Amino acid sequence: MHTARLGDRALFPELAATAYLNHAAMSPPSVAVRDAVGASLDAYARKGAGAWVAHRDQRDRLRHKLGSLVHARGEDVALVPSTSQGLVDLALCFPWRTGDRVLLLDGEFPTNVTPWQRAAATFGLDTVFLRAADFAPGGDGLDRLEAELRRGLRLVAVSAVQFQTGLRMPLRAMAQLVHRHGAEICVDAIQAVGAIPLDVNAMELDYLVAGSHKWLMGPEGCGMAWIAPARVGALRPVVAAWLSHEDSATFLFEGPGHLRYDRPIRARADFLEIGAQNTLGFVALEAAVDLLLQLGTPAIFAHVQSVLDPLERGLLALGFSSLRSPDADSRSCILGVRPPAGIPLAPVWRHLQDQGIACATPDGVLRLSPHWPNSLAEVPLVLTAAERALARTRAEPGAPPVS
Ligand SMILES: Cc1ncc(COP(=O)(O)O)c(C=O)c1O
Repeated sequence: MHTARLGDRALFPELAATAYLNHAAMSPPSVAVRDAVGASLDAYARKGAGAWVAHRDQRDRLRHKLGSLVHARGEDVALVPSTSQGLVDLALCFPWRTGDRVLLLDGEFPTNVTPWQRAAATFGLDTVFLRAADFAPGGDGLDRLEAELRRGLRLVAVSAVQFQTGLRMPLRAMAQLVHRHGAEICVDAIQAVGAIPLDVNAMELDYLVAGSHKWLMGPEGCGMAWIAPARVGALRPVVAAWLSHEDSATFLFEGPGHLRYDRPIRARADFLEIGAQNTLGFVALEAAVDLLLQLGTPAIFAHVQSVLDPLERGLLALGFSSLRSPDADSRSCILGVRPPAGIPLAPVWRHLQDQGIACATPDGVLRLSPHWPNSLAEVPLVLTAAERALARTRAEPGAPPVS
């Protein structure tokens, strides 16, 4: 059993970066993850199909563990291949009526837009856009949402955290408004689950989907979809396949007479688990989640804020401007900053990379995203590297004159 310690990257011995601040893009696998995948492969190597039952039980455990991260029951969680696939499945299965209106947010990662646009084209829906940025404290996003709800909306699709600014959306307030007007709310939570405390019931959500490879610290190609128990029965299981039925596998194990095509489709979130699963991915994800559960998301979130606070202060002192909300409830584990006026972002990022600072530049923002293994000791290293990155960018031919 591996032990996670806040601020200690001992479980990532081969991580090359001096400071890995890119968990909002993809987390590196810990030793725990790598060991678990190796053991799983060993089991398949020894037993072939005989390893399947143990892995089916493993996925059952994983559903419960993922559920516990968002205060949900495992029964209401499905294991899915990605955030996108989970959202596509929900968009296809939603019980639409022609002419329904779906509210989307401008500025969001496209994962939570495209599936609804395709559903609109397929089922004759209308899409409406508001600006994600208007949901920052002091903005009028909630008023605008209410105005659209009065005009009639069937569903609101929103990310828990905006991928570039790190703005944490007011999900509970949005959900309450949405429900007051008889609509539903679907959350892309890939930038939150694992590092931000979430409670799907307290927040009154209807659907939540999250891929594994960011804050859950698992691999690509797997994730979770949670469906409120009150909503699952109304979904049309248009994506169902052989493993979506009740007692779907009895014909493989219990002798003749069980091969049937008329068994009901499970009225449970896991009807989305339609066929052979990404076994290794889900084994890896469980090992990553076990470490998160050892630490607990409240402690992880507090730790990340304790790293981001001095990082933000230091970057502001160097002339960067911060997109992090001044309001604690609107903060996430992402710090988005812009370089000082006139300094282009791309070379600053390149000079940071060259100095071993792993970060990203989504949508023109320098994004720093530490997780539980990052330590406070990294902060001065990042700030020194940022100061040098600015100096080197200013010294490059064609750089704007220092004002
Ligand atoms: C908010 C958000 N949603 C979704 C994704 C990606 O989703 P998927 O798991 O389908 O690749 C990202 C980033 O890659 C993201 O930032």
